[in-house]
Amino acid sequence: MAGLLSKRATETVDALGVPWRFAPRGEYDPESNPSGLISFATAENALVTDEVVAFANKHTTLSPESLLYRGSTAGGPRFPAALAAHLNEYLAPHTPIAAASVQCVGAATAMHDVLAWAVADPGDAVLTSRPVYGRFELDFGNKSHVRVVYADSDAEDCFDEGVVDRFEEALWRARGEGVEVKMVLIVNPNNPLGKCYPRNTLIKIMQFCQKHQLHLLSDEIYACSVFTTDDPNTTPFTSILSLNTTALIDPDLLHVTYGLSKDFGAAGLRLGAIITRSRPVLAAVAAAMRFHNPSGASLAVGTAMLEDRPWCRAFIASSREKLAAAHAHVTRGLRDMGVRYLAGSNAGFFVWVDLSPYLPAALGGEANAEFALARKLMDAGVFLHPREEHSSTPGWFRLVYTQDARTVTEGLRRIRVAIS
Ligand SMILES: *[C@@H]1O[C@H](CO)[C@@H](O)[C@H](O)[C@H]1NC(C)=O
Ligand SMILES: *[C@@H]1O[C@H](CO)[C@@H](O)[C@H](O)[C@H]1NC(C)=O
Repeated sequence: MAGLLSKRATETVDALGVPWRFAPRGEYDPESNPSGLISFATAENALVTDEVVAFANKHTTLSPESLLYRGSTAGGPRFPAALAAHLNEYLAPHTPIAAASVQCVGAATAMHDVLAWAVADPGDAVLTSRPVYGRFELDFGNKSHVRVVYADSDAEDCFDEGVVDRFEEALWRARGEGVEVKMVLIVNPNNPLGKCYPRNTLIKIMQFCQKHQLHLLSDEIYACSVFTTDDPNTTPFTSILSLNTTALIDPDLLHVTYGLSKDFGAAGLRLGAIITRSRPVLAAVAAAMRFHNPSGASLAVGTAMLEDRPWCRAFIASSREKLAAAHAHVTRGLRDMGVRYLAGSNAGFFVWVDLSPYLPAALGGEANAEFALARKLMDAGVFLHPREEHSSTPGWFRLVYTQDARTVTEGLRRIRVAIS
């Protein structure tokens, strides 16, 4: 029915229909559904969910506050302080984070939209390197109409100081096309690469943003999901807030996003936050808050977890051990199969795997070789998301391994069947 929806809704809805945009759910269970699909696509840490559920069921009580406006608006009275205390411990900020610098919203995804709305006008852009978590295009684009501009880099060089030269080129190229870049985005620890930014690269990026007066958003949602591996060439996590930024960037330009979806395996709580010392940006976020206030019931659970510091420390220590074991398990499996992956990962829930040798020549009706490979994998009962992480070299996929070891083993076996 022509004209039923607005032009912007029609455009957005049409764009969601592009092939392979969204990941199907994994339905495999070794006992109850052994022929179900195994999905390596959704970045959830299924290894910790039971622990969070047990804590929440035992230690959460709803108070009248939880159900009233005053208990939930902008995160209510307790959550921002509890989150600040948590981040002061795990980000080791150079200047302690005050509760007043934390604005809480219903999930980090909403925060990206709010931030895009706050710092950029429709048609302006956010600049980032690739590979990158592909749904940022939706987060920034689909409501606020802010584009994502990519700096031409790849998995091997995007953590190097030289990435700022790529940013510079992309900035000028965009300007040449009439697109104003308003913000640089980094994801640290990186999604989809599972690696952390070296301190010197962070410094260069801040200087670049200062020079061009661009906002810098450091998405640190995986900050606590960093672990030890036996690879000697890993980079430890350094939060951008841990650096002395005084001589590097105006506090008005520097923002961090965090949330409980990843480190606490609790995407369903939908709790996210921006941490910034910029009063104008905090005011703009507050202005959009009306549409994005978190739920009081979620805040009750999140606050109980974060206020129990001994529980948090034990939980994160145990989560890191589980991540390390799962990472060792999947990388061993990949080596046994002869599948190459990006070395040096020590964070997040994924490895970056190279399936380029197995890209089929026959597309079988799909638009490109990566979709065709994803189809072959689906036929073998395993899903890897094709082309969503915007690799400049075809054939690389993000493989999420934070699942039961038997599921991962079976998933790898199915990949082996599909590619042999
Ligand atoms: C929504 O996101 C898709 C995917 O990036 C993009 O192609 C499309 O242009 C976006 N729509 C709008 C209206 O911004
Ligand atoms: C931070 O850097 C500024 C500028 O370089 C310097 O003046 C200041 O002493 C530093 N602060 C600390 C605590 O090191």
